Formats: sequence, structure tokens, C-alpha cells
Amino acid sequence: MRRTTASVLKGERDRNLLWQDTAVSKRHRAEAKGQKACCIWLTGLSGAGKTTIANLLDQRLHLSGRHSYVLDGDRCRTGLCRDLDFTESGRLENVRRISEVAKLMVDAGLIVIVSLISPLISQRALARSNFDPGEFFEAFVNTPLSVCEGRDAKGLYAKARQGIIPEFTGVSSPYEQPLNPEIELDGRMSPDELVAIIRQTLGVAAALPRRTA
Ligand code: ADX
Repeated sequence: MRRTTASVLKGERDRNLLWQDTAVSKRHRAEAKGQKACCIWLTGLSGAGKTTIANLLDQRLHLSGRHSYVLDGDRCRTGLCRDLDFTESGRLENVRRISEVAKLMVDAGLIVIVSLISPLISQRALARSNFDPGEFFEAFVNTPLSVCEGRDAKGLYAKARQGIIPEFTGVSSPYEQPLNPEIELDGRMSPDELVAIIRQTLGVAAALPRRTA
């Protein structure tokens, strides 16, 4: 492969960089918050219910005294990722960037809830590779395309079918279902039920230690 000036510079830069451990560790930051930091990565079609579940989970965690934060695809695409499109490379960069931010937030001791279509298995594997074992929970919001399209809360499926929106996930762009997610959610159940399932899974995985006081 031809080595461009940019790639040489990047190689040089990477060689001279080192991930610096901070004086206060991730574990200490999380313990000070009475929790174990983790990332819950919600994946599924547009309209599957990811954002609703993410926000309700965040609210429930907040009300029970936990420290959490939601990184949502639609929101990040208005700022952090506003320069990215919906091509495969645009989506990969979207996933890469958001998983890097999620990693920093987990390092800060937070429970991070990511809500992103992240349609390809390889993209989600890249996200997972940013986390320590037991820290990443892939949660597949399994809602059939027909149900998502029936909801069509934003009118996007109708536009995609008319060809107005190109490369729309599930219509003209692929969605690869997770093969072995930590959590699988039937998107036709109520958000309350689904959030309870996630909290139970986190509890079993000791990500939500019981409070002594
Ligand atoms: S991802 O594929 O890169 O993970 P992301 O979750 O950030 O997608 O954004 C998905 C949201 O962008 C959808 O909920 C929808 O509102 C909007 N959107 C706009 N164009 C598309 C498209 N071509 N495919 C999917 N979603 C789209």
C-alpha cells in the first residue's frame, strides 16, 4: 500500500502516543458513585424503541441515585457527528466516535446508555473492543421491520419507500442482527417491562451493586 504523507504522519503520531492512566482510577470514580461503570449499547432498527428505552432507563437509574448518561444517535448527529452521512463508512465513523466518547464516560465512572442503529456486526464489535470484559452490554431491541414501519413516528420509512431517503436501514441498507447479545428485548413489549429486564440483567452482572445505605 502506498504510504501517503498523511499516513506516515499518523503512524509517527501513534508511535509517540501513550494512553496515560489517571491518578484516580475508573474503579475509584465508579465506587464513589456507588456503582460499577458500564456501557449498555442499544442496537436495532429506526423506530425499534431504542431512544424511548434509553431515556426511561436513564430516568429510572437517576431516580434510584445512579449516575448515567444517554448518547443517542439522532442527538449526536446534530453535533459531534454532524459531518457524517449514512454510507457504510459514515456509519462506521459514527459508531467509532460515539464508542470512544462512551469509553471516556465509562472511565469517568458512569453508566452510559448508547442508542444507535449501529447496523453491522463488525461496527458493534469495534465498539465492544473499546471496553473491558464485562463492561459492555449489547442490547438488541428486536422489533420487526413491519412494526417499526407501522409506527413510522418520524415519517422516514414512507420517505425511504419513495426513494426520498437513500440507504435507509432495513429498506435500502442492511441491518445485521446480533448473534450473541448480552440482552435481547422484544420491542413489542412495553418500555417499562423492557427497562426492568435491562436493570435485572445489570443487577445479575453486579453492575448495579446493592446500596448499604
Ligand atoms: S447509525 O446507522 O449510524 O447507527 P444513527 O443511530 O446514528 O444511525 O441514526 C439513526 C437516525 O437517523 C434514525 O433514527 C433516523 O431518525 C435518522 N436517519 C436519517 N437517515 C437515515 C438512514 N438513511 N438510515 C437510518 N436512519 C436514518
